[in-house]
Amino acid sequence: MKLDLATAIVAAGDDGVAKAAKCLQDGGLVAFPTETVYGLGCDAANAGAIARLYQAKGRPSFNPLIAHVADLAAAERIGRFDGDALKLAAAFWPGPLTLVVPKAENCPVADLATAGLDTVAIRVPAHPVAQAILRGFGGAVVAPSANRSGHVSPTTAAHVHADLDGRIELIVDGGPVSVGVESTIVACFDQPVLLRPGGLPREKIEAVLGRALAMPVASDPARPLAPGMLASHYAPRTKVRLEATGVEPGEALLAFGAAALPGVDATTVVMNLSAQGDLAEAAANLFGYLRALDARGAAGIAVMPVPRHGLGEAINDRLRRAALPRG
Ligand code: TXA
Ligand code: MG
Repeated sequence: MKLDLATAIVAAGDDGVAKAAKCLQDGGLVAFPTETVYGLGCDAANAGAIARLYQAKGRPSFNPLIAHVADLAAAERIGRFDGDALKLAAAFWPGPLTLVVPKAENCPVADLATAGLDTVAIRVPAHPVAQAILRGFGGAVVAPSANRSGHVSPTTAAHVHADLDGRIELIVDGGPVSVGVESTIVACFDQPVLLRPGGLPREKIEAVLGRALAMPVASDPARPLAPGMLASHYAPRTKVRLEATGVEPGEALLAFGAAALPGVDATTVVMNLSAQGDLAEAAANLFGYLRALDARGAAGIAVMPVPRHGLGEAINDRLRRAALPRG
């Protein structure tokens, strides 16, 4: 299949939203902002478009996609929500939470997008541009993060362009995103299970449920791991070294907080996720700074410790993946 498409970039005004909705109706691939990261969307009911989407990303097709809809009423046409799922939807939608639930009868999402599972991942994004596109289009939109498979997720339209120019029809530029890490994924079957830490901190979810979230059990087929949690998923090319308490010669530094590290001098490239030690600011900066440091061609990227509570759980999860050996 040809991939030398002319990729248009439009601003996220009324005109951009209308173009995006039309493009989705025509089976096109549209990158658009959500509050977590930019998504690459297509019509969830159009298997041909979904096949092109997997190809544009270079993504293994066994990795299922999240269906995005404008509200809970639309979500209930796709999946079956038990009491816990309804509680979480009421508390956190629209927002950075994805719920994995059993498919509804006559679920319109094509099997190719759910990788043959009898469950479906559903998200109601809060970003006004995403909301406007979903309402303008009318149906469900499946959307993985708008990066080439294995790259870090895009938090600006420029990141999307760098990865997908010539491979998709349209990029809607809504400026930098606010959250900066992907949605938290919770499976709601008998017992809610945290499949992926993300932009909604675990503590907030547990407060609404009134109990702790279970962790996935890899060997239990009734509680599948998010199949997309491939080990090398969030990978800069430059070697990443975690929990750094000093900087080696030639290394760049991804800092957090105000502490000064031994080994840093005037030649060291330093980017600080949050000098104030603010985890929300750090999450918003994470992927962009990883991309920027990766482009510097340093001998390595040393990363200072980041606290593990709240959004720190998702930040540490993405950093751990970024530091894994490639393969
Ligand atoms: O914030 C986000 O969630 C972004 C924006 C664009 O919405 N999307 C995103 O999609 O991160 P993606 O494709 O990069 O990650 C989706 C994750 C994958 O790990 C996939 O395996 C998992 O969701 N997933 C999808 N359907 C699933 C299902 N039925 N059961 C378990 N995991 C599922
Ligand atoms: Mg992704």
